[in-house]
Amino acid sequence: MSSGVRRISLGIDWLDYAMLGGVPRGNWLLITGEPGVGKSILTIQAAGANVDAMPVVYVSTETRFFDVVRQAKQFHIDLSDAVSLADVLAGKVKDVKTNLVVIDLFGLAREYRELLRAGEEEEGKSKARSPLSMEVVMASIERAYEVLGVGEEGKVTKDVLVIIDSLAPMWPMRQRWPG
Ligand SMILES: Nc1ncnc2c1ncn2[C@@H]1O[C@H](COP(=O)(O)OP(=O)(O)OP(=O)(O)O)[C@@H](O)[C@H]1O
Ligand SMILES: [Mg+2]
Repeated sequence: MSSGVRRISLGIDWLDYAMLGGVPRGNWLLITGEPGVGKSILTIQAAGANVDAMPVVYVSTETRFFDVVRQAKQFHIDLSDAVSLADVLAGKVKDVKTNLVVIDLFGLAREYRELLRAGEEEEGKSKARSPLSMEVVMASIERAYEVLGVGEEGKVTKDVLVIIDSLAPMWPMRQRWPG
């Protein structure tokens, strides 16, 4: 293990070993690969390996978080303590005691599209839109920091593991609706 740099485990021993102990604090790790190679499962392993020791923000853009929890369970990882940022902002959860805040943008985008489609059918238009954008993701993560008590005036006061699975849905949306 290299000296001085705090590293975040990915939850898989050989991978942590190959990375000198994990992802160096303060870095983003971009995981790419063919469909089905295990990128999402790796994010679940990393969340499970760290959630008892540090706050985790999990942004889900391709699956409802409920399904992430279900998949984690199959790997004997318990993510069921997660609190949804939308529920906290809606006042449904008052006192956040968990280390895991979830931003379910997939669920949000689906509801948004359904609402919009209903409106468009009335107006005779057919545009598909989505709230998925990097701006929404980044703003949501900042709110999650506040909920976890680790964000003050845009600064993070403690190590947090932020997972975004995945960035892929953001690219086509940005091309269609820049800004
Ligand atoms: N509980 C499970 N046990 C065994 N294999 C599983 C389980 N859950 C998923 N898999 C399989 O593991 C593989 C990796 O899945 P995963 O969803 O992590 O891939 P991915 O790289 O994220 O794919 P994508 O690019 O489509 O998002 C898939 O082939 C999937 O069918
Ligand atoms: Mg995936």
